[in-house]
Amino acid sequence: MSTVVCPGSFDPLTYGHVDIVRRAARLFDTVIVCVAHNPRKQGLFTVEERLDILKREFADVDNVESDSFSGLLVDYCTRVHAEAVVKGIRSNQDYEYELPMAHVNKRLSGIDTIFLPTSPELNFISSSLVKEVVRFGGDATDFVPPSVLEKLLERM
Ligand code: PNS
Repeated sequence: MSTVVCPGSFDPLTYGHVDIVRRAARLFDTVIVCVAHNPRKQGLFTVEERLDILKREFADVDNVESDSFSGLLVDYCTRVHAEAVVKGIRSNQDYEYELPMAHVNKRLSGIDTIFLPTSPELNFISSSLVKEVVRFGGDATDFVPPSVLEKLLERM
């Protein structure tokens, strides 16, 4: 049985994240999509709100579970007996950001990271750009699921 963890800030979840999680669910037996709690970073949404969004978004996929964690990702992965971490890669910049983390995680616990290229039509979407678009009154319909857009509009 292969269990993988898709970690992230998900502040908020975008169609880019949805693409990675749903594709991972076709490749592995169980995918745990997991909100990282970072006490040094004040998010737009609380960890509980982000987790609630994940649960609703992936309710139709039997082998996707949603969770949150604080502390080191590798400790969480050990607790849930994950075989690997799955990360989406949009660009060289993402790769350069992700590669050292993948090496550190491997060194700390032996866990491998699998990089999935984001689908090309989604590879410009980021949570921070979505927030900026909505903050200034732009239409983010193509970037986030409807339930996320609703929450963004409420919050901003
Ligand atoms: O969506 P993000 O912000 O790019 O996700 C980054 C995240 C949360 C996956 C990464 O920062 C992380 O794993 N944080 C948990 C703390 C940790 O394990 N840090 C060491 C990584 S080398």
